Amino acid sequence: MTGTIHKVSQPQQLFEIAAKNFCQITEDALSRTRRMTVALAGGSTPKALYTLLATDPYRTMVDWSKIHVFWGDERHVPPDHQDSNYRMAHESLLSQVPIVASHVYRIQGEWPHASEAAQDYEDTLRKVFSLTSGALPCFDLILLGMGPDGHTASLFPGTDVVHESLKWVAAPWVEKFQTHRVTLTPVVLNQARHVMFMVSGEDKAAALHEVLEGHSQADLYPSQVVNPEAGELLWLVDDKAASLLQNT
Ligand code: 6PG
Repeated sequence: MTGTIHKVSQPQQLFEIAAKNFCQITEDALSRTRRMTVALAGGSTPKALYTLLATDPYRTMVDWSKIHVFWGDERHVPPDHQDSNYRMAHESLLSQVPIVASHVYRIQGEWPHASEAAQDYEDTLRKVFSLTSGALPCFDLILLGMGPDGHTASLFPGTDVVHESLKWVAAPWVEKFQTHRVTLTPVVLNQARHVMFMVSGEDKAAALHEVLEGHSQADLYPSQVVNPEAGELLWLVDDKAASLLQNT
């Protein structure tokens, strides 16, 4: 496993570091170009980061007019559904900061066919990143979480999307939830300049040990496929999640 592991004792420290990194990555991006592109993680862990970013000093430190927001994955639900990753980010962050509405690129989770939403999102990436044929979207930052089964984004154990090498966005069927998801694939995840995992809680300890210190078996522990080709990989983990790690 490449990358850096930063272990903290309390979850709140994890979010403070993540917020500071967000600001630094934004500053770096705006020193190079006119915008910062970030793909947000879903689930529940990142909500504390989004809430922190929506409060001072971060709310005023970031030039939100230059931030372009995407998602790493989305559930196959409408944007106002309780399970929607868009809804969670909108409520905790996007509705609280002066972001430009046209710079928020939501995955169309409400569309009847998730595969069409995936294709639409890939088209959006191609347009927003102004990509000609052959080029890949390079996010300044991709935020990720990790499930107790070692999944990340919507790359779940035993699904083909874990090994996707052509599509940028896919719509895998997730047997355990009996539903489709829409997700960035490893093709895009591994192009990012910075990938930051946020992993908190004892229920993640076994999977985190396998992902970071176990054999290479991405079919069982899909988070192992995240290895940015040129970008930086940071694992922000708290003591409980890291309790089974041998090498930290
Ligand atoms: C999602 C996320 C998913 C999440 C993990 C961890 O849509 O659920 O993209 O990959 O990051 O399930 O979720 P928690 O951080 O809430 O445990």
